[in-house]
Amino acid sequence: MIINGPNLNLLGTREPEIYGNLSFTEFLDELKAKYTNIHFDYFQSNIEGELIDKLQEVGFSYDGIVLNAAAYTHTSVGIGDAVKAIKTPVIEVHISNTFDREKFRHKSYVSPNAKGIIIGFGLQSYELAVQSFI
Ligand code: DQA
Repeated sequence: MIINGPNLNLLGTREPEIYGNLSFTEFLDELKAKYTNIHFDYFQSNIEGELIDKLQEVGFSYDGIVLNAAAYTHTSVGIGDAVKAIKTPVIEVHISNTFDREKFRHKSYVSPNAKGIIIGFGLQSYELAVQSFI
């Protein structure tokens, strides 16, 4: 399960110098074509509670969750708690190197409860997380 947080629906048009020119659906199509033996589900929301609901919904039955909580990474105790509460391992990913950006992006409520963290490899961060699950 791949879960994306706020504003990641704008990938491809949003700050392309940071996040690149590819939309997430284009990238996901490439990923699905490359890893045909993996079943991918995808969810994106700009709403914190919807992300928590989705983590709870899939977090006891799926093999793995790749989570980019985007801006909520840095603010949401609720998402951090949800990651801790579920059974399915979560890999936290970020497209940009958050440690090379503003100080407020250095804090993550997800990291302490994640199985691992992959940061700063562009959209390839998601693929590296998938490879780790494989
Ligand atoms: C992001 C980094 C966050 O700081 C930012 O708020 C995002 C995207 C990334 O993937 O680089 O929306 O999670």
